[in-house]
Amino acid sequence: MTAIDHDFTQPQRSQGGALDWLKALPRKLAGVDKGGQRVIPASPPISAAPLLLEELAPPGFGRSSGNGPEADGPRPLSMGAMAQPIKPISLRRDSIYAAFNTAMPVTDRHGLTGRNAELEKLVEAIVVQRKHAVIFGTRGSGKTSLARVFGDLADEAGCVALYGSANGETDFEALFRSFLPELPMSAAGKEKAKALLSGPFDVPRLASVLVEDVRQRSILIIDEYDRVHSETARQDVAALMKLLTDLHSPVQLVLVGIAGDIDGLIAAHPSLRRHIAPQRVSPIPTPDLARLLLSCSERANLTMDLEALDMLANAAMGSPYHARLFGMQAALIPEAAGRTRITPADVEAGLAVALEDWAEMSAVALAHLARALRDAPHNRRMIALAGVVASQIYAISQERLVEAGAELFGPSDRLHGEAADALARLAPALVPTSAGELWMFEDTLAPQFLLLMAKRPGNGAAAPSRTEEMRAMLKGVDGL
Ligand SMILES: Nc1ncnc2c1ncn2[C@@H]1O[C@H](COP(=O)(O)OP(=O)(O)OP(=O)(O)O)[C@@H](O)[C@H]1O
Ligand SMILES: [Mg+2]
Repeated sequence: MTAIDHDFTQPQRSQGGALDWLKALPRKLAGVDKGGQRVIPASPPISAAPLLLEELAPPGFGRSSGNGPEADGPRPLSMGAMAQPIKPISLRRDSIYAAFNTAMPVTDRHGLTGRNAELEKLVEAIVVQRKHAVIFGTRGSGKTSLARVFGDLADEAGCVALYGSANGETDFEALFRSFLPELPMSAAGKEKAKALLSGPFDVPRLASVLVEDVRQRSILIIDEYDRVHSETARQDVAALMKLLTDLHSPVQLVLVGIAGDIDGLIAAHPSLRRHIAPQRVSPIPTPDLARLLLSCSERANLTMDLEALDMLANAAMGSPYHARLFGMQAALIPEAAGRTRITPADVEAGLAVALEDWAEMSAVALAHLARALRDAPHNRRMIALAGVVASQIYAISQERLVEAGAELFGPSDRLHGEAADALARLAPALVPTSAGELWMFEDTLAPQFLLLMAKRPGNGAAAPSRTEEMRAMLKGVDGL
């Protein structure tokens, strides 16, 4: 698959033409047999690139002022500029970060845990049935990983999969301009594409090139589509999808983004809907997450108690991002103590660190959740359940909470009141779904942290963050 490395929002035509600002970032799975197809050399995997963590700081960057040996022994970057030297980053810590990496999507199908069913469905719908697709789910659920691995499978099936990612404000033209030079076209087609790139184009002009001039089945994967805020752009994309289908174009679109349902990403008319395969990125089953965690810890040369593994896999509640994050924080605890086995106590401590880190980055969400838990000690179980339900089916409602509550706690007349109370208390942290009937956490990473907070002893509320404190001080000022 070819990844387009660019920002869809910055055409910069004035700086030497559209081609100049487009940089194709070719990424192919190593060892994939492409037959007669164009083979783009694989970029080295990030984990293979050595981090210069224990190497000397480069000259001129954070040089030591002169006390102590200049050249001997490891010296962390810019350490010399600090009064109290920080601990050098150990190789083992480095390997923990690499093994549990939360930042890099999976690009190798062997590293993609628990997604075989989704991959098969995508191949069937897109490659075989020639539908467009929408891949949606919560933040960190593994949308990009699924889309990238699917793209490589599609390549192997003889298609050309191109991957790009929307960034910030963008319009219809910007979304597609970057793909045009990469599409397999005849010489005449390339000329037409060039003409398109040199001026504004609309849906019919683009569709005509995609229908008449593309010579090979092509799949355009547009990631982070939720960041496209322009309603016009979204409507144009829907219109393009319909045209491509009606005119039997060899080009299909795959939109990927954070949403609770397909309507959250695209307003698809019923006649278009039939031609779009919706692919929800669901929670990964806990045993699969446990396998993922085990393989990460093995790669970091650590072992793990079974109970510790259980605690981590359960706390992640189906999210591969949380599993990796929690696993990494838990793994750093024994590392700091010079041990190589992750125990339940390490997991407790690691989860607390993960919660603190999240609290620092998401002060407002934290304040809302903390307040809900603190003000309703009588209803903590329903508030916590809201997090669990949201992690499993993304959107929550009073009915969904009552149903889950009846299943877990047994039927009771109190459940309706408890569910309504929990929703009302959590309301500041929730946003309505596209249909407006259901609610989801505005920060879709929050449910796992809500549960961690609910499990904390005492009143369950984390100490107010600095931001929360400052917000409290500013209370009453207009505009807040
Ligand atoms: N099936 C999987 N198996 C193993 N790790 C996974 C899987 N899916 C995702 N991950 C890991 O989880 C993290 C988040 O994955 P990814 O970036 O694909 O999620 P996303 O849904 O695209 O996130 P975002 O909403 O931020 O775009 C990454 O570290 C990735 O390596
Ligand atoms: Mg993503």
